[in-house]
Amino acid sequence: MTTPVRVAVTGAAGAICYSMLFRIAAGEMLGKDTPIILQLIEIPQAMQALSGVVMELDDCAFPLLHGVEITDDANKGFKDANVAILVGGRPRGPGMLRSDLIQANGPIFTTQGKAINDNAADDIRVVVVGNPCNTNALIAMHNAPDVPRERFTAMTRLDENRAKTQLARKAGVLVSEVTNVGIWGNHSNTMFPSFEQIKIGGKAATDVITDREWLEGEFMKTVQLRGKAIIDARGASSAASAGNAAIDHIRDWSRPTPAGDWISMAVPSQGQYGIEEGLMYSFPVRCDGKGGYEIVEGLDLSDYAMEKIRATETELKEERDVVKDLLK
Ligand code: NAD
Ligand code: LMR
Repeated sequence: MTTPVRVAVTGAAGAICYSMLFRIAAGEMLGKDTPIILQLIEIPQAMQALSGVVMELDDCAFPLLHGVEITDDANKGFKDANVAILVGGRPRGPGMLRSDLIQANGPIFTTQGKAINDNAADDIRVVVVGNPCNTNALIAMHNAPDVPRERFTAMTRLDENRAKTQLARKAGVLVSEVTNVGIWGNHSNTMFPSFEQIKIGGKAATDVITDREWLEGEFMKTVQLRGKAIIDARGASSAASAGNAAIDHIRDWSRPTPAGDWISMAVPSQGQYGIEEGLMYSFPVRCDGKGGYEIVEGLDLSDYAMEKIRATETELKEERDVVKDLLK
């Protein structure tokens, strides 16, 4: 029998996890042949609510779910974990920026980074969802000096998915026609969904959608401000779509990226495109199906794109400076 993959998830009693955990247990993340054990981590005050989530997981009788463990101790929660999805932390409310969450959420990722360092399996791969996710992932990475840096990532897949739908709708095609969507930089208002490389039905998106004003204006703003639009409409931040994006992130990191395409993940920069080494920056990446990935290099970026790419880098450096005491 295949050994179950141990998936550790923080914030497991929260809104995102309430949609995400059931889909993971159903095999939508690691495949219908891969058994899993869920290791669910919460704070003490949320353990009772978490026990209710576990009752519901039990009541689904998922054949692939070989076990569920719950704890409020990060060291236990990350024990032997192969995959870690770090969702736990406060969401923003109306009128807040994601970066306003740094003071509340940043310290969580020192403890969790250390617990991953000391307990997780050798092949651990981490995605940070809790905001501000790039900087939280940076904190976790710095607190896990024995884990290879490239195993720490932050989630910009939701932005990629948002961009895909906007472009497909404008072009009047199905989302599956939209490929090569690269989100650059920070999961924030400065992120750059670089439409210059995107393809629609195999053609340059800029040839299919010739309205450059829409691409530079409404398209970019819709993607950059979508999180706020959802909070304003729902009174709470995106949850089901965020859980879906986390599943997409880990699923696509676990399999080879289709030829010619790429996906977006925030990963530690190795200096590509002049982005400062070590910053947790979203790039277009290609995965090898064995847990590795490489940043897509050699893309021809216009002066317009380079300006955007630098602006979001600057913001990430500013966030890093705010949390410098949490970095080792
Ligand atoms: P939520 O408030 O519903 O749930 C968060 C859960 O985290 C709570 O149950 C809380 O008890 C738990 N938690 C807090 N501190 C913890 C800790 N130290 N260890 C373990 N659990 C802890 O919030 P949510 O809607 O699920 O959102 C969670 C986070 O995800 C927020 O920071 C939100 O901004 C972020 N988010 C990111 C994206 C993205 O695209 N990157 C998208 C949506 C939401
Ligand atoms: C999102 O993009 O929906 C999340 O990051 C939540 C938020 O605060 O916008």
